[in-house]
Amino acid sequence: MAYVSSGVACSHVPVLGVASDTGITGDDYYGPIFKGFEFSKQWMEKEKPDVIFLVYNDHCTAFDARIIPTFALGCAEQYAPADEGWGPRPVPIVQGHQALSAHIAQSLILDSFDITVINEMEVDHGLTVPLTMMFGKPDEWPCPVVPLAVNVVQYPAPLGSRCYALGKAIRKAIESFPDDLKVCVFGTGGMSHQLQHERAGLINSAWDDRFMNLLVNEPDKGSMIEHVEYLREAGSEGIELVMWYVMRGALNENVEEMHRFYHVPASNTAVGHLILENR
Ligand code: DHB
Ligand code: FE
Repeated sequence: MAYVSSGVACSHVPVLGVASDTGITGDDYYGPIFKGFEFSKQWMEKEKPDVIFLVYNDHCTAFDARIIPTFALGCAEQYAPADEGWGPRPVPIVQGHQALSAHIAQSLILDSFDITVINEMEVDHGLTVPLTMMFGKPDEWPCPVVPLAVNVVQYPAPLGSRCYALGKAIRKAIESFPDDLKVCVFGTGGMSHQLQHERAGLINSAWDDRFMNLLVNEPDKGSMIEHVEYLREAGSEGIELVMWYVMRGALNENVEEMHRFYHVPASNTAVGHLILENR
């Protein structure tokens, strides 16, 4: 049977994709950030998941204001990198796993999580940057990816507690898939950041630290953080962090924290990163 072995939390700052694509990951600004992922790349080589279930948000790329699905599950054969204004990133096409996607869609909907099924979709920095941080620059991504796009771009965004419950349902779905697959679940986005208006540039490191501690050790409590707290403490884009709770819900109550990295600045946000193993 399929099973969830581990979870990865990872910011998706777009400029980190640019740094990788243009070969400046060793300079004074980007060097310390990419150093924080050296352990992660080695860990990934040993972990070798068969599939990655990747929770991310689309930034008005595949979906615009005409259609805003709250939870959209990728069920396509493959997902091309999107053109976000500078041409598509020169990274491999993301291969899907249609049989697993279809199974998860069925399991979730029959479990009362009425997700939207997406049969054709391009993927933006929200999905491709975390792959770059964890795998570097391979000719092909080492395994297929099942994407779940969560709306955190326009309110109402889903609650952290709903994301946590969805993560548990995703685990149940994965564990009822008959093939032997080792699945690693990614929760991406964050940490505290605000990209516009008077509080643009807001970063709250003390709150980010508390967020990560709660996520790892007291997820029942942390999943209850309300939207207004994300907004007040982590800025308008801090709401991306609810996606880390989908990942956390797919793991055991007790997990082993294998790696933690936190760095300021990276563009307008803090880079936050965790690797958690199910024991
Ligand atoms: C930045 C961060 C994001 O999460 C994003 O989606 C876009 C930009 C930034 O800090 O530049
Ligand atoms: Fe973002």
